[in-house]
Amino acid sequence: MIAPVQTSNSNLAQKNNRLSVQSQNFAEDSCAIRSLDWDRSRFDIEFGLRNGTTYNSFIIQGQKLAIIDTSHAKFEKLWLEELFKQVKPQEIDYLITSHTEPDHSGLISKLIELNPNITIVGSKLALKFIEDQIHLPFERIEVKSGEFLNLGMNRNSGLEHNIEFISAPNLHWPDTIFSYDHSTNILYTCDAFGLHYCSEEFFDTDQKEIYDDFRFYYDCLMGPNARSVLQAIKRIDKLPELKAIAVGHGPLLKNQVKFWKEKYIEWSSNKSKGSEFVSVCYISDYGYCDRLSQAISHGISKADAQVQLIDIRSSDSQELTGLISASKAVVIPTWPVNSDNELKESLGTLFAALKPKQFTAVYDAFGGNDEPIDSLANKLRELGQKEAFSPLRVKTIPDPIIYQQFEEAGTDLGQLINKKKNIASMKSLDSNLDKALGRLSGGLYVVTASQGTGSTFRQSAMVASWISQASFSPPGITVAVAKDRAIESYMQVGEGFVVNILREDNYQKMFRHFLKRFAPGADRFADVDIISNIAEGGPVLSDSLAFLDCKVSSRLETPDHWIIYGIVANGKVSDLSSKTAVHHRKVGNHY
Ligand SMILES: [Fe+2]
Ligand SMILES: [Fe+2]
Repeated sequence: MIAPVQTSNSNLAQKNNRLSVQSQNFAEDSCAIRSLDWDRSRFDIEFGLRNGTTYNSFIIQGQKLAIIDTSHAKFEKLWLEELFKQVKPQEIDYLITSHTEPDHSGLISKLIELNPNITIVGSKLALKFIEDQIHLPFERIEVKSGEFLNLGMNRNSGLEHNIEFISAPNLHWPDTIFSYDHSTNILYTCDAFGLHYCSEEFFDTDQKEIYDDFRFYYDCLMGPNARSVLQAIKRIDKLPELKAIAVGHGPLLKNQVKFWKEKYIEWSSNKSKGSEFVSVCYISDYGYCDRLSQAISHGISKADAQVQLIDIRSSDSQELTGLISASKAVVIPTWPVNSDNELKESLGTLFAALKPKQFTAVYDAFGGNDEPIDSLANKLRELGQKEAFSPLRVKTIPDPIIYQQFEEAGTDLGQLINKKKNIASMKSLDSNLDKALGRLSGGLYVVTASQGTGSTFRQSAMVASWISQASFSPPGITVAVAKDRAIESYMQVGEGFVVNILREDNYQKMFRHFLKRFAPGADRFADVDIISNIAEGGPVLSDSLAFLDCKVSSRLETPDHWIIYGIVANGKVSDLSSKTAVHHRKVGNHY
């Protein structure tokens, strides 16, 4: 039985790896256990983790007792202890799995070992994945959208907990299913609507505080499936009422449910405009395929092009054929040499659906025993496809540099797809307005940023002109960064960057160097003299007139740029007698 309202915390302090758990009853007969992963660093699971994360699981007590999701395996001791403060293993009747990614399904086998009578409830695909993951016999109920699991009436509250399932494929795994409790009006969505944000605050009390992380999480994980997001929301809208969204990561959404849902609709609608899209294929549960495909997709979205992520393994052949043949470009991973027949069949369908001269590109899944990437690239060449970007090779476990390279390759592909559209929009300004805008002038700068240490160290740079002082106290500046710039990913709230101010009498060399087109993941600083240890945010160019060392405080979105407001912590001029290079333009429709 669930204890009355209570919060408890247990801590397991490890060096640089603080883990804790908390639990609280948050609705009638409903309790959340949150595993708090304070220091989970960037690139550990998703490619933009900045504020740690939490893994949330839930207990619903009707006449029968159900648990929704478990936790990450690293929380084994803490999570099981916390769970068993609330219920005994023998009291658990059902384990509902929203999807089978290890951060939520990591402790399923432990529960089944403790009570082999627990019935696992999930989508067909989820149950198949669990079979492969836990290697234990288990009771199961396969559920589809619109089906119910009735937990019966809780004798204390008198509420009958009838759970409806809503299928939400691709949010963000192919097997994802939401659960809705008709008696509490709470929707359990796991990854969807979540955010990587670790604090003891249980709910979305401070919207401003969590907004940037909510947005960033959407961009990385949900944006590439914008169409699927809209489909899932249509299904949610048919539910009677939404009092709270019990998410699998971050604070539970209770105070501004409507706001968060509308944001998902707004962003997903923007991303699904127009009919041209790139299909990024992946193979679920194989190597690093899903994360690498997400990095490519994120890059494509940055260039304002549309993406459709496709799980080759679980798409039916009609759907696969339709999507591939309608795509402007198709990105394909390497697959296991010893693929099962089902996967072989799907791959056959994929290749048969390609159109002549369609853009294609390939990447390593790094699954351990992949078909060689070169034979895949050759096969596509022989089929007469056009190469959208050079094969993306992975020779070690993907690190930040590899994810960055994948993201940049995606951005290049997005720009390629949008080339015509972008040229057309450049010409569309009224010529008087264009010339008038062109009279706005700015300085010439190189913005740099670095992140990580040792093997995770990476850095980037871009030429900038739209920089302006924005506050006196504390000293602050704004930088406008086009959304498709690689350095944009470095300039999230809390991260550092450096503005290098170029000299009027000596700017051409740096200007030309940083203006050229770099290959995905290329080192922007090869053959450039830099000083690495005087600014925290990034490298200082030896040739610059002055530098400003900044930390991002907030970001404002415009249709094609992020306006980044940074607080300047430190700065220095190298030559007081020199002036800043100025940028005069003729027209205002490009830099
Ligand atoms: Fe997930
Ligand atoms: Fe997750």
